[in-house]
Amino acid sequence: MGVKVTFVQADGVEKTFDDVATGQSLMEVGRFNNVEGIMGDCGGSCACATCHVYVTPEWQAAVGPADDIEVATLDMVSDLFKSNSRLCCQIQLREELNGIRVVVAPSL
Ligand code: FES
Repeated sequence: MGVKVTFVQADGVEKTFDDVATGQSLMEVGRFNNVEGIMGDCGGSCACATCHVYVTPEWQAAVGPADDIEVATLDMVSDLFKSNSRLCCQIQLREELNGIRVVVAPSL
């Protein structure tokens, strides 16, 4: 069974996808579905920060914190960094994230 994910683009447009397969990253879902602002230039290897999102407060605990490598890459977008910043290529979809909602960070 798939999960539901919602991206809120920087322009305010919400894109919701139902029945998304688990086991892939949130970045892959966003890029495949042309969510504005999710480029995923490095292919998901945590090296480009073009998949920067803000995890909405109700989902932060389930998603968990960024690891040290991700924090270092997020430094590339330090002007836009917030305490709920994550690189969505590092968020693997699993059943507990059914309904997750993230806000796409603006581009630099
Ligand atoms: S796709 Fe490059 S850091 Fe996420």
